[in-house]
Amino acid sequence: MSIKPPKKFFEPLAIGAPQPYREIPVALERMIHFFPPHVEKMRAKLPDMIAQVDVILGNLEDAIPADAKEAARQGFIEAARANTFGATGLWTRVNCLNSPWFLDDVTEIVAAVGDKLDVIMLPKVEGPWDIHFLDQLLAQLEARHGVKKPIMIHAILETALGVANVEGIASASPRMHGMSLGPADLAASRGMKTTRVGGGHPFYGVLEDTRPDQAVRTLYQQDLWHYTVAKMVDACQSNGIKAFYGPFGDFADDAACEAQFRNAFLLGCVGAWSLHPKQIEIAKTVFSPNVDEVLFAKKILEAMPDGTGAVMIDGKMQDDATWKQAKVMVDLARRVAARDPRLAEAYGL
Ligand code: GLV
Ligand code: MG
Repeated sequence: MSIKPPKKFFEPLAIGAPQPYREIPVALERMIHFFPPHVEKMRAKLPDMIAQVDVILGNLEDAIPADAKEAARQGFIEAARANTFGATGLWTRVNCLNSPWFLDDVTEIVAAVGDKLDVIMLPKVEGPWDIHFLDQLLAQLEARHGVKKPIMIHAILETALGVANVEGIASASPRMHGMSLGPADLAASRGMKTTRVGGGHPFYGVLEDTRPDQAVRTLYQQDLWHYTVAKMVDACQSNGIKAFYGPFGDFADDAACEAQFRNAFLLGCVGAWSLHPKQIEIAKTVFSPNVDEVLFAKKILEAMPDGTGAVMIDGKMQDDATWKQAKVMVDLARRVAARDPRLAEAYGL
């Protein structure tokens, strides 16, 4: 037998480690806000940040200079100890598995603040074997340090091999929380010809046909990330985990950031990364469902109390499938309403 039997999935991987989750805990995660933990000025802003964001993440990997890796790890531990997080998730992005820092990142952080840490973001995941390794290591560390709830794993989808194995990664362990698209590393790994961190490219498009009555032909720009985001969403949703768009690097182009986030939201993603404070508001706007759409979805649910049959609302056909769409929207609106009194009132929830 080469496949793990279903019941084995829910046995702890180490004696004394907590029972794996059967479902990931319900949480609103519209943005994962990155901070550099070695920078004292940033750590000082944390109490303010924690109140504003859904998830706060201490970044130890790319963008942290090699000579600041230990300081970032210690800064994260200090920040985790010094703050209370309430409903805001506490995550860290550790260095990748073959780096000189990964082992100390995981062992020192779980030992020091394992009970406060919700999720470890693991970069450059290539296949289920990477998840199995961290899964077993975390179980050992949880057992050793008496951690009470499982620390979840969030994979970054940012290598060509990872995309080829995305379903295996999504189903590798009950510890899987979700996945983020990493467009910068993925572009490099695939040999894509871009130098951007996410977003579109003016040359990636479809040129309209020639027409006798029209001299100028328009190039319609296409979304470079559509295929990967859609593939990631299917892998995640079919395994009961969450998909996220990752970073958007052009801090001067908020409109393009919003458009990229919105494409991801419409395709099924639940959130994105914020690397600049102004992207927090963009993510809140995009990943909180639109008020008119929520009001319409509520009408559908009210018109079909048991979720079956067919009715017309405002000239549009509704049936069991649109009821399910409406439920996705209203369930999300309820989670948003619980954190945002202004939207709770607008949604009437
Ligand atoms: C994120 O880590 C990326 O590589 O885009
Ligand atoms: Mg990356």
